Amino acid sequence: MEELFSPFVTPETARSVRDQFGTPAYVYSEAVLRRQAREALAFPAPFGLCVRFAIKACPNAAILRLLSGMGLSFDASSGYEAERLLMAGIPGSRISLSSQETPANLRALVESGVRYDACSLHQLEAYGSLFPGTALSIRINPGLGSGHSNRTNVGGPSSSFGIWHEKLPQVLETAGRYNLRLEVLHSHIGSGADPEVWARVAAMNLETLRLLPEVTTLNMGGGFKVARVAGEKQANLQKIGAKVAKALEDFARETGRKIALEIEPGTFLAAQMGALVATVQDLADTGAEGRRFLKLDTGMTEILRPSLYGAQHGIRLYPQKDTGRTAEYLVAGHCCESGDMLTPAPGDPEGLLARTLPEAAIGDLCVIEGAGAYCAAMPAKNYNSFPEAPEVLLRSDGSLQLVRRRQSLAQMIENELPPSEV
Ligand SMILES: Cc1ncc(COP(=O)(O)O)c(C=O)c1O
Repeated sequence: MEELFSPFVTPETARSVRDQFGTPAYVYSEAVLRRQAREALAFPAPFGLCVRFAIKACPNAAILRLLSGMGLSFDASSGYEAERLLMAGIPGSRISLSSQETPANLRALVESGVRYDACSLHQLEAYGSLFPGTALSIRINPGLGSGHSNRTNVGGPSSSFGIWHEKLPQVLETAGRYNLRLEVLHSHIGSGADPEVWARVAAMNLETLRLLPEVTTLNMGGGFKVARVAGEKQANLQKIGAKVAKALEDFARETGRKIALEIEPGTFLAAQMGALVATVQDLADTGAEGRRFLKLDTGMTEILRPSLYGAQHGIRLYPQKDTGRTAEYLVAGHCCESGDMLTPAPGDPEGLLARTLPEAAIGDLCVIEGAGAYCAAMPAKNYNSFPEAPEVLLRSDGSLQLVRRRQSLAQMIENELPPSEV
């Protein structure tokens, strides 16, 4: 596979990680995280910009604090995520909560300053009954989606996220009944790199804004795609932002309303900062006409995306002894689950496609790239009783800092209770 970007986990770094923390281990590059954050903060916005990190992508407090220090705000997807942000020292005023499930702790969160984004009519009703006469955000499904598969599409008629755009009259009726001010319009439609799609969504949102005179901020969500392997598209925030900014300027000229912009990337900020360092723990093949397998000490317990939706990740093998030869390998995870494969065929999640890698031996180091977003955050946790892997921050000065310990077996079972005597 063609080189996409220079790896920050060099063979030396991978060895240091294994020596100090064992494998598998996530490594997060502070330099890459900061680079992505700077790019997001430069998103064109003529009337003000707020960049929120969608913490579902990587909620480790070390990452939250680094981004907070750079001036970013945050998007939480559950009451628990919002609470986690507060526990990491992030003030409520910098948190927006857009959740599928109405949080049980909604009152306490809003009283801590968290901004609520009502994602359904039921949520709007629940908020209104708790906080009549206050301001909030509403999430609308604008009728368009652009995710790369059904499992990542979060807009359009087949998505349950947000209030369907044709239900605006009900929104206004509920808001009126509770004397609520709808100050923010939110719409997140899924991963995309095409500036034209963003321009269309901006235009649709601005049409909706005409019916919502109190809205001062438009939140366009996240979904800015990054390329994890060669051939994948990477969102260009300047190009996307130019289209969105023009739409906002035209709207301001026509209506006199200067709408501030929010974006809430998860993938764009976190995906490329992460790599997973693993060890080849076995080799297998299915005969002369069959396939060759490289078996790792990681898999869907640390990186579920390939099994879940056929996501592609760069894989580098660092052999202890370089034979100068390569081989075609399917890369298998360590779970007793035939779907635990790290080499799905591109565009065909049910298929497999071998990668050309240096000839491998047991004990070689293997680095899986693009593992900063939706990996440590979204594992098949503790399946086969594998403990959660540690998270390590590669600081800008080159040092390695442990930011989450490896889970112990005792921690894994600590909440279990013996059966009562019968
Ligand atoms: C409301 C909302 N905002 C932001 C994001 C982040 O999306 P991404 O990681 O694709 O940028 C998501 C992802 O599901 C989301 O649901």
